Amino acid sequence: MIDLRSDTATRPTDGMRAAIAAAVVGDEQKREDPTVNELETRGAVVLGQEAALYLPTATMANQIALRLHTEPGDELLGEENCHVFISELGGPAVHSGVVTRGLPGVAGRFTPQQVRAAYRMPAVHSPRTKVVWVENTHNASGGRVWPLAEIDEMRAVCDELELRFHLDGARLLNAAVASGEEAATIGRRFDTVTLCLSKGLGCPLGALLAGSEEAMVRARRFKHLFGGAMRQAGIVAAAGVYALDHHVERLADDHGRAKKLALGLAEAGLAVDPDRVETNFVQLDVAPLSPAEAMARLADHGVGLSATIHPTLLRAVTHLDVDDDDIDGALELIPHALVGTRARVGA
Ligand SMILES: Cc1ncc(COP(=O)(O)O)c(C=O)c1O
Repeated sequence: MIDLRSDTATRPTDGMRAAIAAAVVGDEQKREDPTVNELETRGAVVLGQEAALYLPTATMANQIALRLHTEPGDELLGEENCHVFISELGGPAVHSGVVTRGLPGVAGRFTPQQVRAAYRMPAVHSPRTKVVWVENTHNASGGRVWPLAEIDEMRAVCDELELRFHLDGARLLNAAVASGEEAATIGRRFDTVTLCLSKGLGCPLGALLAGSEEAMVRARRFKHLFGGAMRQAGIVAAAGVYALDHHVERLADDHGRAKKLALGLAEAGLAVDPDRVETNFVQLDVAPLSPAEAMARLADHGVGLSATIHPTLLRAVTHLDVDDDDIDGALELIPHALVGTRARVGA
C-alpha cells in the first residue's frame, strides 16, 4: 500500500537503526543517560531555548507545558481546532484543571485582536486568562505555517497582557524548512516549545519540551508525576540525535512531493487546492462520497489516506517512507479510485 495516512507511519531507516544499536545508555531518571543528555542539549539549541526535556510523546510535552504555566481555574486560548483542544482527550481539564477557549482561525491562525477580545479582565469571579497557544504547523488546517511577523505580534500582546506563550511545534521543523527560518528563530519567541520526533523526523517515538532552565527544572518534576521518566531511554533518544543530523533538511523533499501530488490531483480534476499546500499535507475534498466510502475505495486501489475533522476532507501526508515512485503511483491510483467525486475545491 502507498501509505499517505500520516507522517507517523515512518519506520526507522537502516542508519537510524545502527545509531540505536550503538547508543550509549544509562539511567535517564538519574540523568545518567549520555544519549538522552545529548539529545536534550542539542534540542534546546535547535528550539532556541535554554534547556529541553526528553519525553515519550508530544501530547505529554504539551500537557506538561500547560501544567507549568497554569493553576486550576486558569484559561487557555488557542485556535479552536488545535491538537490540544481536539485530540488530547480534554487533557487541559484533566491534568491541569484548565478551561479552554477556542478562537475561530484562518489556516490555523488567529489574531492579537481576537486574543484581546477574549482576554478576561482580572476579576474575583472570572477564570484567569493565562496562556496563548500556537500550533505550527497547524495539523487540522492541513499543515499550514505561521508567518514569523504574526508570531511577533502575538508575542507582543502576550507580553502586554502578561500571558504565557506556548508553541505546539510538533511539526516545527516542517514549518522552519518551509519558511526558510531557523527553528530556533521561531522557537525563541515562545516561553515553551514542543517538538515531536516521531512524525516527519522519522523516530519510533519521542518528543522534546524546551524552555528556560528554571521552567525545565519544574517540568522535570511533572515528567515524573505524569509517568514520563524512563530508564535506558538513550536507546530511542539515539534515534532523535540521528534525526536531527539526517532528517531535517530532507523535509523539503516531503514538501515538494506534497506539492507535486496536489498539483497532479488538481490537474486530474479532483478537488484539491495546491496553493494551500505549504508543507507535507494535502487536503482532498471527496464529496459527494463520505470520507469512509472514499477511504474504502482508495484502500481497494492500494492507497491509504485518512479522515480529518472536516466532514468531506481526506488528507494525504508525505513523509520519510514516501518516495517519488509512490507519488507517481498515487497520482495514477487516486483519480481512478475517486471517479465521480470531481467536485469544486472545498472550503
Ligand atoms: C500538532 C500536534 N501536536 C501534538 C501531537 C501529539 O503527538 P504525539 O502523538 O507524539 O503525542 C500531534 C500528533 O499528531 C500533533 O499533530
